[in-house]
Amino acid sequence: MNILVTGGAGFIGSNFIRYWIKNNQDDTIVNFDKLTYAGNLENLEDVSKDTRYKFIKGDITVFDQINSAIKNNSIDLVVHFAAESHVDRSIIGPADFINTNINGTFNILEVVRQNPGIRLHHISTDEVFGSLKTLEPKFNENTKYSPRSPYSASKASSDHLVRAYIDTYNIKATISNCSNNYGAYCYPEKLIPLTITRALMDQRIPVYGSGKQVRDWIHVEDHCRGIELILKEGKLGETYLLGGNGERENIWIVMEILRLLNKPKELIQFVGDRKGHDFRYAIDYSRAKNELGFEPLKPIEERLKETVEWYASNKQWWQPLKKSADVMADRYLQK
Ligand SMILES: NC(=O)c1ccc[n+]([C@@H]2O[C@H](COP(=O)([O-])OP(=O)(O)OC[C@H]3O[C@@H](n4cnc5c(N)ncnc54)[C@H](O)[C@@H]3O)[C@@H](O)[C@H]2O)c1
Repeated sequence: MNILVTGGAGFIGSNFIRYWIKNNQDDTIVNFDKLTYAGNLENLEDVSKDTRYKFIKGDITVFDQINSAIKNNSIDLVVHFAAESHVDRSIIGPADFINTNINGTFNILEVVRQNPGIRLHHISTDEVFGSLKTLEPKFNENTKYSPRSPYSASKASSDHLVRAYIDTYNIKATISNCSNNYGAYCYPEKLIPLTITRALMDQRIPVYGSGKQVRDWIHVEDHCRGIELILKEGKLGETYLLGGNGERENIWIVMEILRLLNKPKELIQFVGDRKGHDFRYAIDYSRAKNELGFEPLKPIEERLKETVEWYASNKQWWQPLKKSADVMADRYLQK
């Protein structure tokens, strides 16, 4: 197969390319990425010399660019990760989120509609389902959409477009909605790498509100394996939820990282809550488990320890990103 990955220079996309190259020897991969602040070719330094891998700098919001990348490389499958992905940035400036996440997905759908042999897998998030109360049942494939931030609303729109193209034009597509990812190469503005990198540098660590918000955390390698299972075993036209069995309060995550790094809890600074902050996300992934055999491989405690160790021994990767990644945290700390 010839595969085109959009957003392959970002956190999950780069992990997916590395995973796929290692586990699927006969396939080629084109990484199509605009290289925004979140895109970093150093995430893929180890695979960049592989003859099965090729990078194209391009923008999914420009139809001709994505159209020619797909056509010129005889692509069989598009795995669509490219997005603006940080909720705090979407609150400050939603325009890029609307453009990339909605218009960009629309362009990809148009290319796929015009070339019915091509399959699309669309990567989405559990944030499209909104916020759960403590004892409410977990999200599943039938949960009603209820997005509450510009980010999640733009991802919800893109999911609706993909479903509409499946029903209207019978395109070959699948969707996955996944919980919060963590692991190597995550841009250090997101909670886990932000906390690790700030703790390593003895900087104050902002925690929103009471820190009692709950997220389900999935290790990025489990996410990549889940996508592989959907691509190989999933039914066309269907949506699968992928979760990590890792529901934890944000404050638990921060305290555990401080414990692993032997840093004092006095580094924590509680700050005002994020606008429209969702209280709890939780995923019931029984469909992916029963139909595809999907299951996270290790408990969060073990994966978090591995992740902390990765950041501690890869400072040369994250230090150049630190100034830009700290912008949001510093905004909250100054309020
Ligand atoms: N990170 C998570 O916890 C999480 C959870 C569930 C779903 N997702 C989804 O997974 C996907 C990847 O997330 P991530 O955390 O790796 O994001 P990321 O921000 O790390 O990477 C996004 C990548 O997309 C590229 N990109 C942005 N706009 C583009 C454009 N117009 N054209 C081409 N490339 C563009 C960026 O350069 C970057 O390389 C997103 O669709 C996101 O919604 C993320």
